[in-house]
Amino acid sequence: MSSIKQEKIRNHYDTIADTYDTHYDHHRGRNYHTHISNHLINSLPKGRDLLDIGCGTGLFVSKYIEHGGHGTGLDISEKMVVKARKRCPQCDFTVGVGEKLPFRSESFDAVSSLLVFSYVKDPEAMLAETYRVLRPGGTIALCTLGKKLLTAGIPALYQIGEKIKVKHVVMKDFGEYYYNEKEMDKLFTDAGYADVSVKWCSFAHIDMIDPLFNLARKIEPFVEKRVPSLAYNIFVCAKKAE
Ligand SMILES: C[S@@+](CC[C@H](N)C(=O)[O-])C[C@H]1O[C@@H](n2cnc3c(N)ncnc32)[C@H](O)[C@@H]1O
Repeated sequence: MSSIKQEKIRNHYDTIADTYDTHYDHHRGRNYHTHISNHLINSLPKGRDLLDIGCGTGLFVSKYIEHGGHGTGLDISEKMVVKARKRCPQCDFTVGVGEKLPFRSESFDAVSSLLVFSYVKDPEAMLAETYRVLRPGGTIALCTLGKKLLTAGIPALYQIGEKIKVKHVVMKDFGEYYYNEKEMDKLFTDAGYADVSVKWCSFAHIDMIDPLFNLARKIEPFVEKRVPSLAYNIFVCAKKAE
């Protein structure tokens, strides 16, 4: 049974919506977020109809439409959606959950989701829904913290962080679940997706101090290519058959 605390997630993001961008759209956070976004943008068809699940304040949608196309975002937190609408008034934003998408079948060419999948209570339902709303030949690209030795201590760290009241955008006990390559591959394949590719990305972490972050950024492409065991985000890309 899933231990994901969806109500707590919603309340948390409603509470931090006003400060979210000071974390992911400033200084190291912007570099970190742009790095992940570029991985997704390079895998998705450009200038098409995009749905971004767990869109937050609209950071990814606004980057995607720089290449043309139209963006739709969906998020469980109403306050995050309010922020997204302000950032990107030309796009559409809706409050809802990834597990039950309020869109017609075959309405998007691309589906994205950044830093959200570990919060999803019913991943099978979300992938069935993304498959339904994608047009034939459409692409999904998703990036989230992955399961490996490097990330094994994170849930405990978050529990401690919450107990000692650390003020941090993500450091709370939400019962998150991290997936490894095999689990991701199975989830996407079972949902009907083809050409499933699972890779590791990210080495420079937003919580590193500046000199360490700058060094990690420099060697990040090498790490991702040659030593992926040191990268901590899992990146999945797949297609709906034509
Ligand atoms: C770490 S933030 C990432 C936001 C955005 N994707 C970004 O890259 O800046 C996680 C977001 O996922 C949303 N979220 C969590 N669970 C969700 C679910 N089941 N369905 C839709 N949104 C969800 C949260 O409200 C929050 O805005």
